[in-house]
Amino acid sequence: MFITFEGPEGAGKSTLIQSLAVLLRSRGLSVTTTREPGGSPVAEKIRALILDHPMSPWTELFLYEAARAEHLAQTILPALTRGDVVLCDRFTDSTLAYQGHARGLTFKSVHAVNRVATGGLKPDLTVLVDIDPALGLKHAQDKNRFEAEGVAFHRKVRQGFLKARALAPTRWITIRARSGTPDKMAETLLKKIEPWLKRVKAKALRKKVK
Ligand code: TYD
Repeated sequence: MFITFEGPEGAGKSTLIQSLAVLLRSRGLSVTTTREPGGSPVAEKIRALILDHPMSPWTELFLYEAARAEHLAQTILPALTRGDVVLCDRFTDSTLAYQGHARGLTFKSVHAVNRVATGGLKPDLTVLVDIDPALGLKHAQDKNRFEAEGVAFHRKVRQGFLKARALAPTRWITIRARSGTPDKMAETLLKKIEPWLKRVKAKALRKKVK
């Protein structure tokens, strides 16, 4: 099962992911947590390049996709093959929201390169951790060049996420950022994703029996 977490800056995705991972492990599931851009040695190098240097929107797009192809090959696909639940901090919907919508490269172009980079792999479930971008920016911790963009840019990013969600509503679950402690929020989230997990467990059991 492949679950991605999306949302504006400062939504607290990474702490929520860690809390959810603890909960899932306590239920006997193997969990891999990872992030984009990054999540493998080469992809982490590309991450530093993207986040530290201004560049043209197209260069930015292709570097995100290069990092993604590497991350998939080295981390995500092997974890899914092992049967892990993969929790990934940002994925293709961030590219739609940031490069497609906020930078203006269009959803159509970004969707096409997303598909090439992922070989068509889509998340089973995407959690939108939603926050007012102005509030999120106040919480954002590691100042990179995206966080230095104005609030108008980040409002566009949020609109991009809402647009992506509208295109595939059944894949998304939305929760309000900072609506409780990370542990409480992880519990609420787990209740929402339990139906999916039951299916994954049943599938794993069937495999074992075979
Ligand atoms: P990061 O510090 O990980 O941000 P956050 O903690 O908010 O997740 O930095 C990643 C930045 O890269 C973030 O500003 C979002 C941006 N990004 C894109 O623009 N396109 C993408 O495809 C991805 C994955 C991230």
